[in-house]
Amino acid sequence: MVETRSNIQTFYASTSQPLPIILDGDPGHDDAIAWVLARSRPELRILCVTSVCGNQTIEKTTYNAGRIMALLGMDVPLAMGLPKPLFRDPIIADTVHGKTGLDGPELPEPMKSPVACSAAELMAQCLKESDEPVVIVPTGPLTNVGALLLLYPELKSKIRHISLMGGGIARGNWTPAAEFNILVDPDAAKIVFESGIPITMAGLDVTERALVYPEDFERIRRVGNHVASVVAGWLEFFYHFHQSLGYPGAPVHDAVAVTALIRPEILTGEDLYVQVETKGVFCRGATVGDLNKVSGKPPNAYCLKDINRNAFVDLLVEAVTYYG
Ligand code: BDR
Ligand code: CA
Repeated sequence: MVETRSNIQTFYASTSQPLPIILDGDPGHDDAIAWVLARSRPELRILCVTSVCGNQTIEKTTYNAGRIMALLGMDVPLAMGLPKPLFRDPIIADTVHGKTGLDGPELPEPMKSPVACSAAELMAQCLKESDEPVVIVPTGPLTNVGALLLLYPELKSKIRHISLMGGGIARGNWTPAAEFNILVDPDAAKIVFESGIPITMAGLDVTERALVYPEDFERIRRVGNHVASVVAGWLEFFYHFHQSLGYPGAPVHDAVAVTALIRPEILTGEDLYVQVETKGVFCRGATVGDLNKVSGKPPNAYCLKDINRNAFVDLLVEAVTYYG
């Protein structure tokens, strides 16, 4: 049974306890902004952070994760993910995120080293120790979550929900059919989509509408604290690449996966049966959504479609204000 927007809202209305979450990403400018947002919210309790190879090599995304955590004063364990996708070679997105994977503003050095275990092991440990089921928020390729499900199938019931950035029902961005995160590790994505765990999919259908315009960067910068000026710098860097493709603003993809947990009312979506193409010649990494319900299969994902852009920008402004 997919946990839809309405029953997520019911959950939040019925509890005053912060929701335990795991952040898993490949930072990455938009991952970093997603984490700024998550860390600022009292409704969320971050149990741990795990890095994945995607936008850059695992060494670089792990280092970036440590630097972001230092910037945000996020004192939870960080574990390094696998050095490559489950069964394939890595693809990186240095054209989008730069040589370091997080080019732009200067950042503090990590406060501590990653823990000695792998990302999947740390996730498993947090799931085992948590009294309540946990939400995983993957904003990179699904390698670590796929590994977790392969290695610890018995822990599935401890995963309440997966709110992920990845895929696109209508189109791709790295190929005509595939979005970057799913293209990098389609095998892991297939494991996740077929797991039966409730999924919210923040795919390109919605994230390319989560645009932050240059005038919004200035609004964020004017908040006047250090995190606000770093976020404005990240947005400028991220926009530079997208501007060359004709985007009127920076699509802050990954922050939508966090927004779905805290402000579902500013999003719309649809329950769909989604299959991941792992073999296709032209469509490898595509997330094929059964829009016309021809498969006869029950939905396995709540696929987001639209976002109230102004409310999203307000949410980011509110997030950086927290760090004042
Ligand atoms: C996704 O790819 C990465 O470059 C971004 O961080 C985001 O997670 C968008 O396709
Ligand atoms: Ca990402």
